[in-house]
Amino acid sequence: MNARRYDFDHPLDRRNTCSLKWDFCQKVLGVPDVIPMWVADMDFPAPPEVVEAVKKRAEHGAYGYPLVPDSFWTSIINWMKNRHNWEIKRGWLTRAPGVVPSLNICVQTYTCPGDKIIVQSPVYYPFFSAVENNGRRIVKNPLIYKDNRWQMDLADLRRKIDGRTRMLILCSPHNPVGRVWSREELEELAEIIITNDLLLVSDEIHEEHVYRGYKHLPIASLSPEIANRTITLTAASKAFNIAGLTTSIVIIPNEKLLNLYNIQTENLGLTTGNIFGLVALEAAYGQGQAWIEQLVEYLEGNMEFARRFFEERLPEIKFLKPEGTYLALLDCRSFGLPQPELNDFFLKKARVYFDQGPIFGEELEGFERMNLACPRQLLTEALQRIEKAVTELRSS
Ligand SMILES: Cc1ncc(COP(=O)(O)O)c(C=O)c1O
Repeated sequence: MNARRYDFDHPLDRRNTCSLKWDFCQKVLGVPDVIPMWVADMDFPAPPEVVEAVKKRAEHGAYGYPLVPDSFWTSIINWMKNRHNWEIKRGWLTRAPGVVPSLNICVQTYTCPGDKIIVQSPVYYPFFSAVENNGRRIVKNPLIYKDNRWQMDLADLRRKIDGRTRMLILCSPHNPVGRVWSREELEELAEIIITNDLLLVSDEIHEEHVYRGYKHLPIASLSPEIANRTITLTAASKAFNIAGLTTSIVIIPNEKLLNLYNIQTENLGLTTGNIFGLVALEAAYGQGQAWIEQLVEYLEGNMEFARRFFEERLPEIKFLKPEGTYLALLDCRSFGLPQPELNDFFLKKARVYFDQGPIFGEELEGFERMNLACPRQLLTEALQRIEKAVTELRSS
């Protein structure tokens, strides 16, 4: 039997649906008619199987406190085994309302004020706030941009660790540089973590969007030694476009670390959970395999389409095709514009809205981050808008 085919080309009007991505430019920035390509959610509905499951639960009408069913945990265990070849146990699992809350809980639970925490910048900006807003000290181990590729600087990492360093927060696959870390990179990183007695928080929320030729490896699956000191944070939210249902997963094989995590969650009153998030995750992991495979193929098509468009028609902008994630960096340094003017150019002249490079770290001065998780037709319109604005800029 042929697998069901899903349609990712169908346009979806998300305006006035309480969508941060779609309503922000008009309602907050006051700029109308902008194609939003910033915050990481997708302009595709969740898989029909997920929508059906949520509708069915909604029709029941009573939305009281949930009790998480065993089938929820089983769906996570099966998904990790089948898709990532990682055998996890029920006793390692707990839940959270999101990966960002978990980042903060990890910092609060496992480190003390004044401790040093390493991040590999440029990186998803809540990594910085989770450290600094909790009174810990950021140590940057910047990625190196060499031969059009971002790489870890593990020699620099070794030099930066000292007696006050407690933790490293990893982004794998990496937002915003789009790297899917290789086995060699992850093994060396794990060795450094173990040798220096550090804890590792690994944010793997982008693990499902990985393109041909690359493979996501959960770092905790590499050895029992690294598993014993790793807290893996992930979710079905990015993959299946259900972030508004605020449900994420925390995987902690070390029992002592798991207990400490759970106490902090209880103290913060975060144990309840979102009833629709539970239902959606189980439907996504239970029935979403074919959908995600087709989605990744579609996203890869978008990446290739954009790469070619920039190369042939907008050579001033260098498009960095990612190995994973539906986010791509645009290297706009050839314009020589200061960042605020560059942002203004895209927002007000081209009428597309990106995340500005420097919010992820000073390494991305002159870059923008583009979200390509949308129907091809919308992507085409955005690229044409950019081309028109750049043509005007060229002749000005
Ligand atoms: C690396 C990374 N971690 C976490 C998140 C957000 O996670 P959550 O919505 O579960 O807090 C994002 C969203 O863009 C992300 O890119």
